[in-house]
Amino acid sequence: MNMKLFQIYFSPTGGTKKIVSFMSRSWDCEKVEIDLSDPLEDFSGYVFGEEDVCIIAVPVFGGRVPMAATSNIRKLKGNGTKAILVAVYGNRAYEDALLELKNTASLAGVCCIAGVAAVAQHSIMNQFAAGRPDLRDERTLTEFSERIKGITGQKTVKAELWVPGNDPYKEYKVVPVIPKTGKECNQCGLCAEECPAGAIPKKNPMLTEPEICISCMRCVVICPQKARYADNELVEMMSKRLREVCSVRKENELFLLEIVEG
Ligand SMILES: Cc1cc2nc3c(=O)[nH]c(=O)nc-3n(C[C@H](O)[C@H](O)[C@H](O)COP(=O)(O)O)c2cc1C
Repeated sequence: MNMKLFQIYFSPTGGTKKIVSFMSRSWDCEKVEIDLSDPLEDFSGYVFGEEDVCIIAVPVFGGRVPMAATSNIRKLKGNGTKAILVAVYGNRAYEDALLELKNTASLAGVCCIAGVAAVAQHSIMNQFAAGRPDLRDERTLTEFSERIKGITGQKTVKAELWVPGNDPYKEYKVVPVIPKTGKECNQCGLCAEECPAGAIPKKNPMLTEPEICISCMRCVVICPQKARYADNELVEMMSKRLREVCSVRKENELFLLEIVEG
């Protein structure tokens, strides 16, 4: 069988991408990466076959899927392609994100066979889940993907994958953390080019449009001059509020579709 594994991810600061790479190791076939955070790419050209497998991975923002990822996932075309859904969160909670991802991916025509909630370092409050995914996560995620791989060739009997979440979803309510620019900025324009929301004007990369910015922190992480930063006081205030809930290590979870041998 000439199957391909599509590694589809929205990963502003790289944690989600790392989880996808761990989850892909078990597959010994051609792999194709699709980066949903490329603001210039038209994703409507991607059509997947029935024999292919897609890993669709997003970070959790405010217990939901970031809108910028949802709108691009909607453009993909599955043809009953088996899909593994991955919601990556910063050790607080993933709430309705996995369910929202399942509903969005199903509308794109894929058949959801597994859902994974995985933990990566918090991209705003870096002290939470610091250094994750770590070795222990790597082992768990490899084991998950072996189990998922085991069911990909089998006939499904239960039509729908169950993942936790509320429908209607919780309201998207995130405290905006709009990055600022320091004097180290030499206006190279990399942040404007790479911003998944298009919130940084190319002609003046020192600015950030607050109504467009999704607080994803990509510009902070990629700036070669380290000129972009989040407001320290705001981050500290948020950290204080979340310290208790974010400090206990959360483990990765797997939800598998019920199947019988075909
Ligand atoms: C705007 C924003 C909102 C977030 N909301 C949540 C959340 O609700 N729960 C949580 O556990 N982590 C939350 N996080 C942390 C991210 O889900 C986590 O760091 C993820 O690994 C980021 O993915 P990336 O490294 O691929 O960008 C949030 C991060 C950002 C930037």
